[in-house]
Amino acid sequence: MASLLILYGSQGGGAGEVAERLGRDCERRGYEVRVSAMDDYDVLSLPSEGTMIAVASTTGQGDAPDNMRKFWTFLLKKSLPAHSLASTSFAVFGLGDSSYAKFNAVAKRLDKRLEMLGGKRMLPLGLGDDQDSGGYDQKLDVWAVELWKALAHLHPLPEGSVPDLSDILPPSRFCVSKVGKRSLGAVDGREGQQLLATMKLARGDFHIAPVLTNVSITGEGAVKEVRHLEVDLSLCNQPYKTGDILAVQPTNRLEDVENFSRVMQLDLDEMVKIEPNPQHRSKTALPALLCGFGPVAVRDILLVHLDFMNTPRRHFFELLFHFATDKTQKERIEELSSVSGRDDLYEYCQKQRRTFLEVFRDFPDARPPLSYLFDMIPPLRPRQFSISSSPRVAPHRPSITLAMVDYVSRTKMRRVGVCTSYLKEMRTSPHPDQLLFSIKEGTLKIPGVKRMKEGGTVEDELRMETSQLIAPLIMVATGTGIAPFRSIIQERRSFRESLWRKGFPAPEMNDVLVFGCRTPQEFLYRAELEEYESAGHLKRLIVAYSRMQDKKVYVQDKIREEASLLWHALEEGGVIMVCGSSDKMPRDVRQAFVDVVNSAGQADDAEQYVRTLEATRRYLQETWS
Ligand SMILES: Cc1cc2nc3c(=O)[nH]c(=O)nc-3n(C[C@H](O)[C@H](O)[C@H](O)COP(=O)(O)OP(=O)(O)OC[C@H]3O[C@@H](n4cnc5c(N)ncnc54)[C@H](O)[C@@H]3O)c2cc1C
Ligand SMILES: Cc1cc2nc3c(=O)[nH]c(=O)nc-3n(C[C@H](O)[C@H](O)[C@H](O)COP(=O)(O)O)c2cc1C
Repeated sequence: MASLLILYGSQGGGAGEVAERLGRDCERRGYEVRVSAMDDYDVLSLPSEGTMIAVASTTGQGDAPDNMRKFWTFLLKKSLPAHSLASTSFAVFGLGDSSYAKFNAVAKRLDKRLEMLGGKRMLPLGLGDDQDSGGYDQKLDVWAVELWKALAHLHPLPEGSVPDLSDILPPSRFCVSKVGKRSLGAVDGREGQQLLATMKLARGDFHIAPVLTNVSITGEGAVKEVRHLEVDLSLCNQPYKTGDILAVQPTNRLEDVENFSRVMQLDLDEMVKIEPNPQHRSKTALPALLCGFGPVAVRDILLVHLDFMNTPRRHFFELLFHFATDKTQKERIEELSSVSGRDDLYEYCQKQRRTFLEVFRDFPDARPPLSYLFDMIPPLRPRQFSISSSPRVAPHRPSITLAMVDYVSRTKMRRVGVCTSYLKEMRTSPHPDQLLFSIKEGTLKIPGVKRMKEGGTVEDELRMETSQLIAPLIMVATGTGIAPFRSIIQERRSFRESLWRKGFPAPEMNDVLVFGCRTPQEFLYRAELEEYESAGHLKRLIVAYSRMQDKKVYVQDKIREEASLLWHALEEGGVIMVCGSSDKMPRDVRQAFVDVVNSAGQADDAEQYVRTLEATRRYLQETWS
């Protein structure tokens, strides 16, 4: 039997899910398969792999995800012989977002590098795009068809042995056995709190700290509520930097947990033991939030592990099919899990943001056992929030600025975001709740900002830092995209003030902030930002209200209006930073800058000018959906 290796590099889990799904499909086709994160794989064994499939997403500004950095650095070594991978056939699929300048940069580089090392490409690189209506699945479906053809050509299965794919239920990754009932203790809405504190033991990179402030900062009548939350780091001794991200591990709401258990007929007080299934190909580690604690209550699994308020993808229906006992429901599930049913699946699931819970309600005669839920529902992942305070100003008290996800779907169902609703409920003094979080490096870093090497004089340091204030920043934010810019402006203001205090001349600031929101009620940190402008810490604060006049005005309109100011800033070495919604905004803003260069600038080729800014990291973007 042919043995295949599937490797993935993933920041948010998407590429990992794709790799697992391809792994399952390979197995059902009769191949032996191993699936692993690139950095968990011994890269020295790569030359002896006959066939390798790589799935890689792109993060940052065209950067590799954290769990493939070591692998990638190794592959880039100049000392590797040109024919190292001469015995390896490979295929690469990328996950990316075409609104970013370096679209799928990692998959493109990986595909090229594997070829340079002598690998044989089985099929052209596949490029998944978040901007497609069906997300990355749209390109993946087409690419996978070609992959199966290429594999069948390379590793033909014996005549007559091609399996009927739809009939084979792959083994689950975990076995779950009941070990009794939990002794009844008080159960209330704070139970997840205690759980997280215990779970921290399993997550070395996570910290626990109390919430100090949790307030709404939008005015009465704002379309979307935005909250400002501060965390007390003084006891966990965790530093942070400007541009960093706070990744928060939420729990599901108790109300949703109870609904899910009712629909799935699960007993919340049942204690179960979870173990890797010896029949499963990959020896998957136990879910991080559940491992090492012996038997666990079903309630805890639902509170902290399964993201059942998320939206299912196709592979969920592929597995659900096997558990449907009613003919009509089974046929409908089959449609939704087929490649030809992609548009139908989009209408039914993604467009409505239908949750796993709702889908199970719609199919009452399809009830997988708990062991399969770990394969069908993704784990509850930490959500990221840009830190909105400066470490110079609030070294032990970082803040985040979160927009509440709370809306009515097209099916007239109220939907609330898992993490934002969890954070909204966090209590502060006198009995503050604790957050389980990690601090990660973000992508919006001011280029050229360096720390002095040891041994420099105070004057050297001041000279160096002063020079870094000179290149103007052109910050473009919509909504909570203001968060990292508030941190940056606070940082630069604090530094300027410290120069004054030490008797040094502080440079004139040429930073510009273009901020977009619907109405004045949503003008976040208004008083503070206006004060920065009047005190000269910001050269200009430009606000675009989209809903205050007949014609909508967006940040891109303001950018065009201020073409001369912005061109001037660019010519002084300015750096553009864009933060906020990943919807249409990043493309529209980019086009507006091309127009600025065309109208106010002297560059012959405006598109090329902006491309050069991107290539030299003078055009940075951090956006989310
Ligand atoms: C690098 C980075 C930095 C970030 N920084 C911030 C930040 O500073 N502030 C901030 O608020 N968020 C930030 N986010 C987003 C944040 O991580 C979460 O995704 C967001 O808060 C929602 O989480 P949730 O668990 O509440 O929602 P979930 O339960 O995960 O639901 C969110 C989903 O609901 C969908 N949705 C939301 N509103 C609607 C609507 N009206 N109609 C249809 N669908 C909708 C979205 O498409 C999204 O997929 C950042 C994300 C990244 C990747
Ligand atoms: C902070 C951030 C930076 C990103 N940078 C890029 C990028 O430079 N190029 C790109 O093509 N996609 C970029 N993306 C989009 C991701 O690659 C895309 O969402 C992908 O589906 C994520 O896969 P993952 O969950 O495996 O990490 C970025 C996404 C985020 C949240």
